[in-house]
Amino acid sequence: MNATTFSNAEIAPLASLDEWEDDLLVRYPDPDSIAQAKAKEEFRNYDTPARDTVTEFYRLNHKYQTYDFVMEKERNFLKFDKKEMTLWESFDFLNTLVDDSDPDIDLDQLQHLLQTSEAIRADGHPDWFVLTGLLHDMGKVLCLFGEPQWAVVGDTFPVGCQHSDKIVFPEFFGANPDAHDERYNTKYGVYEPNCGLRNVHMSWGHDEYLYQMTKNYLPESALYMIRYHSFYAQHRENAYTHLMDEHDHEYFKWVKVFNPYDLYTKSPKVPNWKELRPYYEDLAAKYLPATLKF
Ligand SMILES: [Fe+2]
Ligand SMILES: [Fe+2]
Repeated sequence: MNATTFSNAEIAPLASLDEWEDDLLVRYPDPDSIAQAKAKEEFRNYDTPARDTVTEFYRLNHKYQTYDFVMEKERNFLKFDKKEMTLWESFDFLNTLVDDSDPDIDLDQLQHLLQTSEAIRADGHPDWFVLTGLLHDMGKVLCLFGEPQWAVVGDTFPVGCQHSDKIVFPEFFGANPDAHDERYNTKYGVYEPNCGLRNVHMSWGHDEYLYQMTKNYLPESALYMIRYHSFYAQHRENAYTHLMDEHDHEYFKWVKVFNPYDLYTKSPKVPNWKELRPYYEDLAAKYLPATLKF
């Protein structure tokens, strides 16, 4: 192990993981009128200290997410030798992730997952899609294994090739060694044109981790949603079409369908977990094994 050690300030630049998602809402405000009040409120808060922490968060993310860093994280975490839990134990574990933000304002992790899945269910989508909503951020448990926030959440992007200027705060990539390494700083880098995203390594975070954990259990559409939901540079900005193949194009439709449920279903109304649990227990049992390996 030659893992770089990071200071506490570098591990947790954000007061809360939610600050990244709140910032996404500023970047991509809800087009629907219902949530516009919320979006406007976020706009008003744009110049608050949260902006500075988000900026620092991206500075660290863009500096340290190198090709080698991703390889090391994949080697370590894709062994899934850290913990074995039932889904319900996993939710309890995820909910121990408390941060410095105001608990009266921020919902816990399970509530975001339930609000996402319930909105998907209310729209009459297939049950595997509902389950995807429930699971999609489970990979954030990486924080509980001591991982820096910028290696758990944040927009994801391909490593091993040129950083697109469509990625948020592109100027921070100047501090990333890969940007000055000719193996990695050309348009295709270590990849071939239209090689398919399955051959591309993404910056490390909760998306790839959960994808690898669930890849044998869920339909391909669900797996695309899980694996690429933070890949805003593609699903919102189309910046990496040159690495995608036909299969990616077909399944990115689902990533786009999923995104509004992730971003725009946050509401102060707390779903009744006790009432909902039997439905979700049956749903999880239909697709997932009794325990998940982390
Ligand atoms: Fe997420
Ligand atoms: Fe989410």
